Amino acid sequence: MDDKTASKNISSEGDKLMEELVQTLPQEKNWVGYTLYQYQGFWYPLVAAKAIISFQSHFKAHDTDIFLITTPKSGTTWLKALIFSIVNRKQFPHTQSPLLTTNPHDLVPFIEVSIYSKNQTPDLENGNFPSPRIFATHTPYGTLPGSILKSNCRIVYLCRNPLDQFISDWLYVVNNFPRNEDFKPFSMEEAFDRFCKGTHAFGPFWEHVLGYWKMSLEHPEKVLFLKYEDLKEDIASNLKTLADFLGYPFSEEEIRQGVVEEISKLCSFETLKSLEVNVSGERPVGRLKNSAFFRNGKVGDWVNFISQEMADRMKQLSEERYGDSGLKFDLLDKKA
Ligand code: A3P
Repeated sequence: MDDKTASKNISSEGDKLMEELVQTLPQEKNWVGYTLYQYQGFWYPLVAAKAIISFQSHFKAHDTDIFLITTPKSGTTWLKALIFSIVNRKQFPHTQSPLLTTNPHDLVPFIEVSIYSKNQTPDLENGNFPSPRIFATHTPYGTLPGSILKSNCRIVYLCRNPLDQFISDWLYVVNNFPRNEDFKPFSMEEAFDRFCKGTHAFGPFWEHVLGYWKMSLEHPEKVLFLKYEDLKEDIASNLKTLADFLGYPFSEEEIRQGVVEEISKLCSFETLKSLEVNVSGERPVGRLKNSAFFRNGKVGDWVNFISQEMADRMKQLSEERYGDSGLKFDLLDKKA
């Protein structure tokens, strides 16, 4: 047997073992009828479950790596654009940025979707990823590979108030994913109930956010904790904080020249949404349109979908779950 055939067999044997392992995990249905698998306390779609187990087992961190970690629909696309622009600003001034012609998801790969979905041991060395390597993931803190925790790499965590996050996720799933034919899809109210109970992709939301919140307090040099709402309120000062944290601070000269404003504008919802690549482009797999990542980018849009009763339930849950941790989301009343 030649090397190529041997490695193909090993890899398909590995795939078989992985499939068997995942099928032993607790299972639930997602909002449109696909199976979610529970691994180490969190729920994942099949591809993500397998990818995250491989990632956890095999990933070797570099001290220079940057991890961009989010709950889904919390502004991952935005954060990818911001971090890519900060790190590469000397190479690509804003008028020549690859963001003008490339969707942010093609510049900063997802661990689950692009890296470990096809190969349990991808080659992430040997110049395949220029330094600093920037990766995105929704992996919860407790499931991260040990080498990330031991290395000096940086983690930027972004979350969003749970009401807007739920609505953004709900609309993304029901508008973009084919339904499982044999399944009666959940109503929005049923999906909300599942969200509150924690059975949704990459949930429970509460534990996901709390894990990174606690680590950002214990290790502020390693984990920067950001909220979507804060970025919306003051992108310039958050951009400076982000650049300082990543070790790419803006010089006085750059600040005078307006580089912070240029990056903020380039990465803004309005600019990215209107670029041709994001209007008519598609993801390489799954026939998902790039435009699916740009809906309306507002804070508080939940009021148009969620009843006050549901919002009150979420508020109470937030208070119960976050207790005296110091973590709080401003969930205004509908009438406010
Ligand atoms: P809405 O559905 O509320 O509009 P993710 O990138 O994690 O998938 O999150 C998608 C959400 O972020 C969507 O929220 C999307 O509109 C919003 N978004 C995308 N790009 C943005 C940007 N540059 N600035 C602000 N929000 C953005």
